[in-house]
Amino acid sequence: MTKYVRQDPELTRRKFITAAMGTTVGVGAVSLLTIVGAVKPADTLTPEKRLPSKGDVLVYADPAKNGAPVALADIKEGQVVYAFPKGKVNGTDVVKNGVTRNQLIIAKFPPSQLKAPTNLAATDQGIVVYSRQCMHLGCAVEVKPYPSKGLQEAAVCPCHGGVYDLTQGAKVVDGPPPAPIAQLPIKVVGGQVVAQDTFLSLPYDITESEFATQKKELEKA
Ligand code: FES
Repeated sequence: MTKYVRQDPELTRRKFITAAMGTTVGVGAVSLLTIVGAVKPADTLTPEKRLPSKGDVLVYADPAKNGAPVALADIKEGQVVYAFPKGKVNGTDVVKNGVTRNQLIIAKFPPSQLKAPTNLAATDQGIVVYSRQCMHLGCAVEVKPYPSKGLQEAAVCPCHGGVYDLTQGAKVVDGPPPAPIAQLPIKVVGGQVVAQDTFLSLPYDITESEFATQKKELEKA
């Protein structure tokens, strides 16, 4: 049986950098700059790669919707909306769509169905939000029924079959992921879904020290 092991993202990036340095110069110059950019400290991250933060409005990930705020009418039980956070970075409005971890699942359940370890104080009117990036090796999960575990709506990873229960803090109910996908605290404010802070736990592809550094930057902003 194949055993999947989550790799430390910092080590993974270093491997990429090492590999990139060994490739031909023609492709190397631009690619390497992009890769090295991924390990820059928080204050030099490009704005669209910043973590979601307090006050960010959730906007449709669907490009056809042109970055419009997600309408409450579109958040229905049994349906899901994919979104990105949009907020001010250095005074400018930015859709933070530069990394997969910022792609968000907005799901809605009857409030009584949401249970611990969901952070219930971080939900509103049955609406709960998670990162869409799988904690195993970083694929984007899809929300769909998962009848074998009795789930009408679960986050299912197309890569290696990881499954998360969105009603219970996105706990892993199947497959190899080592941890739940990260919950984003939200409130409904003025008909929009608004982030109340950054992710409540470590999302994929960021080390604990990078996460802590970026959170400190957000607190200072
Ligand atoms: S990337 Fe392997 S289960 Fe999601």
